[in-house]
Amino acid sequence: MYFKQFLHDETGCASYFIASRQSREAAVVDPQYDIQPYLDLAEERHYRITHVIDTHLHADHVSGNRRLAAATGAGLYLHEQADVLFPFIPLRDGDELHLGQLILRVVHTPGHRPEAISLLVINPPRSPEPSMVLSGDTLFVGDVGRPDFGGVEGAAQEYASIQRLLKLEDWVEVFPAHFEGACGKGMCGRPSSTIGFERRYNPVLQLSHDDFLRFAADVPARPLNMSAILATNRGEGDYAWAMPRDSVEVPSISPAEAPAWLQERQALVLDVREPGEYAAGHVPGALSIPQADLALRLDEVPRDREVLVVCQSGGRSLKAAKFLKHLGYNRVVNLEGGTLGWIKAGHPVERSEPAAAR
Ligand SMILES: [Fe+2]
Repeated sequence: MYFKQFLHDETGCASYFIASRQSREAAVVDPQYDIQPYLDLAEERHYRITHVIDTHLHADHVSGNRRLAAATGAGLYLHEQADVLFPFIPLRDGDELHLGQLILRVVHTPGHRPEAISLLVINPPRSPEPSMVLSGDTLFVGDVGRPDFGGVEGAAQEYASIQRLLKLEDWVEVFPAHFEGACGKGMCGRPSSTIGFERRYNPVLQLSHDDFLRFAADVPARPLNMSAILATNRGEGDYAWAMPRDSVEVPSISPAEAPAWLQERQALVLDVREPGEYAAGHVPGALSIPQADLALRLDEVPRDREVLVVCQSGGRSLKAAKFLKHLGYNRVVNLEGGTLGWIKAGHPVERSEPAAAR
């Protein structure tokens, strides 16, 4: 067999190229939007990409699945519950895909998303049992994927799915779809692990059932431009331009200097936190656009005025400001330290009714 892990530093994602050296057939799992590296690898090594598989609908990057399938003639595979508007080959729990002698066995692992799958990699000439699992956003190294939309129900599914993966033998290697990024807070940064190591040392897997549900139901902020990215991955629109960009510089100001700066420039404050965070206390007069919805609400962001982008502690707002700058919003500035810094500096906050749903 041939196996290659691609690590994508901008998004913290991993994608995979798995091939049979006998039949020269290859599968690409969780391809990024830029499909050239997979095409180049296939050409250099004389493989034919025959299967393109996403472990789930991604919310933090635009998938290259349809582009790669179109470029290669490969089949495009998703779990049968994937809610998309384009044709695909549906996968069910227990299905097996064959690449020459290699077998990719589907394990339905809902929780992070309803259609999430993991893939067991079996190479029968070496062993009848799986030696690797591509665990998608279900099991990470040092963490687990959080339910995107599922709340307590999603957390319960996630728990059951992870218990299923933990029944695998200790030696099974774990290759997740993320090694960093917004999909889990505690990933250790290593790009792979084993079932045995995670069972023993993954802190989330040491929690009791009830503690796990409490932990997993506490969903972190939705990723930047998630609405536009999901819409693209569902085939509802093409917002490939909404991918986050890190390669631009944005100026920051400190909470101490912010009030005078705002006053002088009559600047707009743009709060990119979740509605509940905004309701609990925000810079007076701030406009609320959660970062997940930013790309779809750009018409509310002025270009002819200074815009101070604010979040909780300054991380999310910097990424959002970089994205805006990349699109030509040249007057964006980041508030260092976020709303917490603003409060700490003794400035007033405004509260509003909590939004009904996130
Ligand atoms: Fe995900």
